[in-house]
Amino acid sequence: MPNALQDKPQLTVLAIESSCDETACAIVRDGVVLGESISTQIPIHRLYGGVVPEIASRNHAVNINEVVRTALAESGVTMADVDAIAVTYGAGLIGALLVGVSYAKGLAYAHNKPLMAVNHIRGHIAANYLAHPDLEPPYVALIVSGGHTAVAEVTDYTHLTIYGSTADDAVGEAFDKVARVLGLPYPGGPEIEKLARQGKACIPMPHAKMAAKYDFSYSGLKTAVINYVHTKEQKSEPYERADVAASFQDAAVSILAEHAVDLAQERGIRTIAVAGGVGANGRLREVLNNYAYPKGIATLFPPKRFCTDNASMIGMEALVQIRAGADFAPMTLDAVATIPLRSN
Ligand code: KG4
Ligand code: ZN
Repeated sequence: MPNALQDKPQLTVLAIESSCDETACAIVRDGVVLGESISTQIPIHRLYGGVVPEIASRNHAVNINEVVRTALAESGVTMADVDAIAVTYGAGLIGALLVGVSYAKGLAYAHNKPLMAVNHIRGHIAANYLAHPDLEPPYVALIVSGGHTAVAEVTDYTHLTIYGSTADDAVGEAFDKVARVLGLPYPGGPEIEKLARQGKACIPMPHAKMAAKYDFSYSGLKTAVINYVHTKEQKSEPYERADVAASFQDAAVSILAEHAVDLAQERGIRTIAVAGGVGANGRLREVLNNYAYPKGIATLFPPKRFCTDNASMIGMEALVQIRAGADFAPMTLDAVATIPLRSN
């Protein structure tokens, strides 16, 4: 559908996110969050050690109506003030995405509003525009979530060039798997970070060498941790779980920082913006700053609540797309489990 809103002076978007285990809605007006509501399923999935897709879909269906109602009430905005509905259509768990997409389509149809389909990862990147309104392309995006790990150059508001991505596990996935080996609950990232504060990064960890300069691999690092722990346990030798967490964490974040800073230098870019759940990690923030500042490169991180899944970032990305003149989605919009990072 053609975009008749591109030049409208003030734009208000109602955004829905349901790609994994958070059901979220936000009302975003011109880069300002007027209201947001999020219902997390973490305590439910923690019982199973990870997200159970079928349970996630069911809980999205149970919670979405209330989440949307609460976000609208908090914002003081009515549906009449909303210009467009935005929804994450992928990537993510297909059943979970379908709840958000179906709800958004119903809302758009009932209130006669256009629908903007948002790529979840582009939403994570857009979280930086919410937090840092002065940010303008070009900049390097370091994408670090549970499903993706990549370094990209954001060339303008709608295009990015991927320079490196992971050959196997995403960094967040590696945090979650290592946490499990250490007997920590889901989601593992924040638990590893907490435990690592009590330990020292003193255990040697492998540093994957990839054929493509900016690519990542986390399976070797994960296996090294598993082997270390199993060997210690088999020999009944004592070991410090906190040292394992700290050693893994340092290895995991150092490679991210190295690739992002190397790419920024190679491209002559002065800003790195971090996107995705692992961006909440304090050690990543520290290490990236340590690498970047001496080279004159600034680092941007969204506040932690905008690093992990939320609907405000989806609303912000929808606003960026509308302003750029992107088409609205048809009512036949479908959820998509896997989307190449290059797509909008
Ligand atoms: O971006 P996100 O919320 O969801 C996806 O789009 O995947 O990322 C979730 C990932 C999980 O793997 C989680 O363990 C990780 O982000 N994470 C962290 C931290 N907080 C969340 N990893 C390391 N340190 C953290 N503080
Ligand atoms: Zn996410």
